[in-house]
Amino acid sequence: MLVRLLYASRAASPLTPAVLDSILAQSRANNPRAGITGILCHSDDLFIQVLEGGRDVVCRLYNTIVRDSLHAEVCILSFEEIRERRFGGWTMGQVNIAKVNPTLLLKYSERAALDPFICSGQASMALLEELIATASVVSRGS
Ligand SMILES: Cc1cc2nc3c(=O)[nH]c(=O)nc-3n(C[C@H](O)[C@H](O)[C@H](O)COP(=O)(O)O)c2cc1C
Repeated sequence: MLVRLLYASRAASPLTPAVLDSILAQSRANNPRAGITGILCHSDDLFIQVLEGGRDVVCRLYNTIVRDSLHAEVCILSFEEIRERRFGGWTMGQVNIAKVNPTLLLKYSERAALDPFICSGQASMALLEELIATASVVSRGS
């Protein structure tokens, strides 16, 4: 059975390229084995990640991620059973929100800035789906 989980968190310290690279390297090493797909969207101080896959492996990975000291205030925005994947092309795609067209952010938020903590989970998910549709995901990951 497939599920899709979306969460947001705050980076423990301003995100550096080295930290981001290490997260993506771990994701790309581990996720294919577990059949997990998704994307990681980030700014200097925020993460939003969607994880898709079997319920047991997604929950297990989420529990690992929650305990990672690289971030805090991890908040589940949505969790649903799904019939099919929407992010199946990415072992862990990556989007730097600073590079996203502000008009797209404004479409789903009160201001042209990413703040998943005040948006509905539905709006954040719609934004991520539009990011993959508009090819804003910079790396496919496999
Ligand atoms: C925001 C964020 C997203 C992460 N996403 C993943 C992921 O998709 N897959 C993964 O294996 N690890 C991810 N990690 C890293 C895990 O917390 C953990 O360090 C890693 O799974 C341990 O891998 P290892 O057992 O191969 O050392 C993420 C960490 C953070 C902070």
